[in-house]
Amino acid sequence: MRILVTGGAGFIGSHVAEYFQKDNEVLIIDNLSREEILGKGIGSKSYNLNYLKGFKNISFYNCDIRDFEKVKEIGKGIDAIIHTAAQVAVTTSLKNPRLDFEINALGTFNMLELARLNDASLIFCSTNKVYGENVNKIPLLEKNSRYEYADERFIEGIPEDFSIDLTGHSPYGCSKLAADIYVQDYAYTYGLKTGVFRMSCIYGERQFGVEDQGWVAWFVIATEMERKITIYGNGKQVRDLLYVKDLVELYDKFLSSNIRHGVFNAGGGRNNAYSLLEVIDMIRKILNKKPDLNYSDWRPADQKVYISNIRKAHELLNWYPRTSAEEGIKKLALWVRNNRQLFIGL
Ligand SMILES: NC(=O)c1ccc[n+]([C@@H]2O[C@H](COP(=O)([O-])OP(=O)(O)OC[C@H]3O[C@@H](n4cnc5c(N)ncnc54)[C@H](O)[C@@H]3O)[C@@H](O)[C@H]2O)c1
Repeated sequence: MRILVTGGAGFIGSHVAEYFQKDNEVLIIDNLSREEILGKGIGSKSYNLNYLKGFKNISFYNCDIRDFEKVKEIGKGIDAIIHTAAQVAVTTSLKNPRLDFEINALGTFNMLELARLNDASLIFCSTNKVYGENVNKIPLLEKNSRYEYADERFIEGIPEDFSIDLTGHSPYGCSKLAADIYVQDYAYTYGLKTGVFRMSCIYGERQFGVEDQGWVAWFVIATEMERKITIYGNGKQVRDLLYVKDLVELYDKFLSSNIRHGVFNAGGGRNNAYSLLEVIDMIRKILNKKPDLNYSDWRPADQKVYISNIRKAHELLNWYPRTSAEEGIKKLALWVRNNRQLFIGL
């Protein structure tokens, strides 16, 4: 297959490209804008691209997904699109909602049009943020180191049919939700094979996490480099953590299945759900260094507990996360420790 990976110079996209190049021709589209969009960056913006240079089945195009004429030219004859490129931070979306809309909503629309022109399949990286603050309406229990859902119905986490309506989302949540619904609709209206993956917290090697996005990687990098970590709120907020290579396997399972369309929550599930404080403690033990914490107010649109119910992906695609959070964070920590030079000057 000829597979187009948007955002292939980013964290998830680079893992997608590495995985799929084994049996396919991979075309990467990226405009290397992560640092510029976030207003700060660490490491090297071409680090992931340089890493991928060794693979002969991968070609790179410096292209903006908003430039449809160029995208159309590059994407001629593709069989599948794995669309990871995005404006990725809630904080940036609050400061610059137009930029967020143009990249996430219009950019995804362009990818759908490209898929339609080529009768290609499309995978979309959606987010748990599409459920917005509805998640915060679930009553919580406050335990020593974490919050927990008090409502039995959500013991396994949030399912795909949880309400996306009548609540606050943040501009990022809205642009992703608009794109999510468009991706669903291109399956209904045009019969394309499309998969929407509402992802929780994804982490792993080659993730240049910063305070505003990629918090697990940021906590590991900051601890290793002895920088301060700010916790917004009390640190008891919970997320389910999914190791990036397990996510990529899920994409593969969907593409090679005979399911024409699906919306799937993609996270580590309740077995890999941890609070920030618990992750901090794990990192402390793995790196044998004490994270330097300070606390600040809760951030807007922050979900107190978000855990993906991953039963659907398990039942329909026979998928489950194979890597425990502890194993995965060890891999991430080893990569950070072996690449300290990338983070000097942080
Ligand atoms: N990492 C997570 O925990 C997580 C969670 C939920 C959803 N997601 C989604 O997964 C996707 C990948 O996230 P990531 O963590 O790999 O982020 P990333 O920032 O590492 O990768 C995104 C890539 O997209 C590129 N890009 C941005 N705007 C572009 C444009 N206009 N044209 C071309 N390229 C552009 C960036 O340069 C970057 O390389 C995003 O859609 C994100 O919203 C990520």
